[in-house]
Amino acid sequence: LKVLSVTSEIFPLVKTGGLGDVTGSLPKALAPLGIETTSLIPGYPAVMQQLKSAMPLVTFERLLGERASLLHTRAEGLSLFVLDAPALYDRPGGPYVGDDGADHPDNWKRFAALSLAAAEIADGVLPGWRPDIVHTHDWQSALASVYMRERGSSLPVVLTIHNLAFQGQYPASRLRDLGLPPEAYSMNRMEYFGDISFLKGGLQTADAITTVSPTYAREILTPRFGMGMHGVLNQRVSILRGIVNGIDLDVWDPSSDPHLPRTYDVNSLRRKRENRAVLLKRFGLDATRDGPLFSAVSRLTWQKGFDMFAETADEVIHNGGKVIVFGQGDREIEQALLNTASRFPGRMAVHIGYDEPTAHLIHGGSDAIVQPSRFEPCGLTQLYALRYGCVPVVSRTGGLSETIIDANDAAMSARVATGFQFHPVTADGLRLALRRALHAHADPKMWARLQNQGMKAKFSWERSAQQYAALYANLVRRPGQISA
Ligand code: ADP
Ligand code: GLC
Repeated sequence: LKVLSVTSEIFPLVKTGGLGDVTGSLPKALAPLGIETTSLIPGYPAVMQQLKSAMPLVTFERLLGERASLLHTRAEGLSLFVLDAPALYDRPGGPYVGDDGADHPDNWKRFAALSLAAAEIADGVLPGWRPDIVHTHDWQSALASVYMRERGSSLPVVLTIHNLAFQGQYPASRLRDLGLPPEAYSMNRMEYFGDISFLKGGLQTADAITTVSPTYAREILTPRFGMGMHGVLNQRVSILRGIVNGIDLDVWDPSSDPHLPRTYDVNSLRRKRENRAVLLKRFGLDATRDGPLFSAVSRLTWQKGFDMFAETADEVIHNGGKVIVFGQGDREIEQALLNTASRFPGRMAVHIGYDEPTAHLIHGGSDAIVQPSRFEPCGLTQLYALRYGCVPVVSRTGGLSETIIDANDAAMSARVATGFQFHPVTADGLRLALRRALHAHADPKMWARLQNQGMKAKFSWERSAQQYAALYANLVRRPGQISA
């Protein structure tokens, strides 16, 4: 079975968050199941640098008005179609924002072009290669199925929602620039509160909609988590289901991680101390005294709830612990965290930045990982935490609620607990969870059990890849008739 996966990021070539991890690792998990994935990605500078001498397979003189070519390459174990369109992608900054931190003003065109190129491939524009199924991810590629249906293609499409907060909402006047007919501005296509939404167009035209955990699949049917899309999602509920993300066990493996000064496994957890010493030094923290190290690696946005941690990190410090926060995001939340850290020199460090090796080192040297998200479609950092023998302290929402087992008395005596959860998701709730975790840390036996149980938890892609494979197979057999 041949899958065309269409995505705005893919690890290790380009990544801003979990989307890249998932699109980069799922193809490898599907391969042993006989599913051959080729991923279509934009030709950002970081991607083009890796393409040594790839020949264009096809050139579009005007793809939404811009000259663009499709190239094929294999890199990092991935098969890739790269959309080389310098006017759209050859510029400084990240996939979505410029160096000034503001969205690229033509994101609508950059990602519509990616989606249109996918529709062209589905139509057979590439000699000798045509997918059996198209898999789109989030709003950036959601228009692919809109373009495909406009052209009369009935090839099955799976749309995965990684984060409903981002929807690709633009003025309806853009329709013409998108090359779509005025009828696309309708309730059952792209019309969205007077504007158009790329994501809604995808939700209305895909054959199956998945999201990255079963809990989030249920949550998004409610106004609280539906972000304005709950109406459409309820209409489409028969084709909606949740498949929990896995993690790449080769990239996130404490026994072979090249970013750790000292590798370890479940039988040599004591070696984490050496990583911890390096980590504390790197973040300018006092390494002379013991005490738990509670850390976070995250986007620092409202979703992730780090404003609540700015209010409650003192709980860790007052109990003799230390805190490291590494991430970037909203200025206000960054500042609130920096303000808290300034009250505790040598004991709390907040570094604003984004860097893969540092993320690994933090997991390799910390005792607990804090993730107080207000909503979390799946969440990967808590899974990396488990694998690295860090105990997660998380809110009970979305994927966090089903991947972490709270250390209540029952779960402790059943020997299945892996972390600490709190609900409702408030600063007080977080403070209480931190207190529980600190209390547990004071009991070395209990802590070791939590670490042990977490490290043995299974979060490989195996089961979820089988679920995607079964979904694909169903759709290919009976296009348009699948329910969850
Ligand atoms: P989301 O995709 O919503 O940001 P996930 O938990 O699914 O949340 O994935 C986050 C990914 O991004 C993880 O791989 C995490 O390690 C990484 N990440 C987040 N912040 C940083 C950072 N500042 N530096 C490096 N990696 C980061
Ligand atoms: C999104 C979500 C996160 C999820 C990731 C990968 O960025 O916020 O919860 O793990 O996508 O699916």
